[in-house]
Amino acid sequence: MSFDPEAIRSEFPGLAELRDGRPYTYLDSAATAHKPRCVIERVAELLGPAYGTVHRGLYRRAAQMTERYEQARRTVARFLDADPGEIVFTAGCTDALNLVAHGWGRAHLRPGDRILVSGMEHHAGLVSWHTAGFKPEPIPLRDDGSLDLEAYDRLLAAGGVKLVGCVHISNALGTINPVAELARRAHAAGALFCLDAAQSAPHLPLSVRALGCDFLAFAGHKVYGPTGIGVLWARRELLEAMPPWRGGGEMIERVSFAGTTYAAPPARFEAGTPPFVEAIGLATALEWLMAQDRAAILAHERAIYDYAERRLAEVPGLRRIGTAPERGGALSFVLACAHPADIAAVLDAQHIAIRAGHHCAQPVMERFRVSATARASIALYTTRADIDRLHDGLQTCVRLFG
Ligand code: ALA
Repeated sequence: MSFDPEAIRSEFPGLAELRDGRPYTYLDSAATAHKPRCVIERVAELLGPAYGTVHRGLYRRAAQMTERYEQARRTVARFLDADPGEIVFTAGCTDALNLVAHGWGRAHLRPGDRILVSGMEHHAGLVSWHTAGFKPEPIPLRDDGSLDLEAYDRLLAAGGVKLVGCVHISNALGTINPVAELARRAHAAGALFCLDAAQSAPHLPLSVRALGCDFLAFAGHKVYGPTGIGVLWARRELLEAMPPWRGGGEMIERVSFAGTTYAAPPARFEAGTPPFVEAIGLATALEWLMAQDRAAILAHERAIYDYAERRLAEVPGLRRIGTAPERGGALSFVLACAHPADIAAVLDAQHIAIRAGHHCAQPVMERFRVSATARASIALYTTRADIDRLHDGLQTCVRLFG
C-alpha cells in the first residue's frame, strides 16, 4: 500500500472551498479534523433512513442500531488493541477525563493521596481534577518543552502518588511524551497512569497493551470522526471498581425509590440515550483510518512537520515554542512583530486557518512567559503547498507589522 496526500484531500469536502481563487489551507487539525466523505455519508444515513434508538426498542430499526452501536464499540477496541467491554463512549475526551476524576478519583483517593500531571496538560487533564476537588502537582518542563524526567522521579519518590496523568502529544507544544516509560515509572511507584491521547490518536498507532496505561481518553472529532463523541478506555478491574458519575436510563440494574443498583461496565457509565449516531460515525472514521497505509501516513506527516519547521525558520523574528527532541502534530510560535491574534487574522484573509491563543493550556503559556502563541497543526491531508502558503502568509505579517 501507499499514501497519496493529494488524492486523499479529494475525500474531504470541508477542504474544497476556494476563496478568491485561493485553496483552503487548513492548519488547525489539532483543534478539530475535517471529515472524509464516508463519515459524512454514514452520519446522514444514520440520521435519515436508518434512524432508530438503541437499547430501548423492540422494533427492527432499534435492534439494528443497537447492533451497529455495539459493533462500533468493537471497532474502537480494535483501534486501541483493547477489549470491547473496556470501551466507554463519552461525549468527548474532556468528558472521558472528567469521568476518571469524578468517577475513579472521588471513589478511590483519600486525604494525603497525590496526583501528578504533566506541566503541559491541556485544561481537560487539570481542571477535571480541580472540579472533582483535587489539586494535582505538575511535573515540570524543560526549556525545550520536554518533561523533566529527573523531577518526575523525585516527585514519585516522595511517595503517596496514586495517579499520573499525561498528554501523549502536547496540543500547545507538539512534544511527544515517552508515555510507556512514564507509565512504567508510575507503576513502579504504585501509581496508575492516565493517558490523554486526544492529540496522538490521529497520528500514532495506539495499543493500550504496549503503552501500559491504565486509563486512555481520546476524542472522535480530532480523529476524523463526528463531534460529541469520545472514548474512555480503562482496565476492566478499574471500571468494575468505579461508581457511576452520571445517573439515568440504561446504566442501572434495578431502580426503586429506596435506591438504585448499577449495571456492569461499560453500560454503567453511559447514562441516558448515548450519542449512538456519533459513536457509529466514529467507528466509520476509525475503519477508514485503519484501512489506510498508516506507516506511510506517519512518514508523510513527519516529512510535512520537518518541512514546516524548515520553512518557519526562514521567517524573520519567528520563535518556536516547543522544541523537544520528540515532537509532532502541532507547531507553536510567536512573531516578534505581531500578536498571535493578528497573525491569525492576516492569515485568515489569505484563506489560511491556524489557531491563536492559549490553546486551553494556560500553565504552558505561563511556563514559557507568553500570553498566547500562534499554532499550525497538521493532519494526513496536509501538503507541502499548505506549508508554503503558511510561510508566505507569515512573510506578509512581517511586511505588515515588522
Ligand atoms: N485542544 C484543542 C486544541 O488544542 C481544542 O485546539
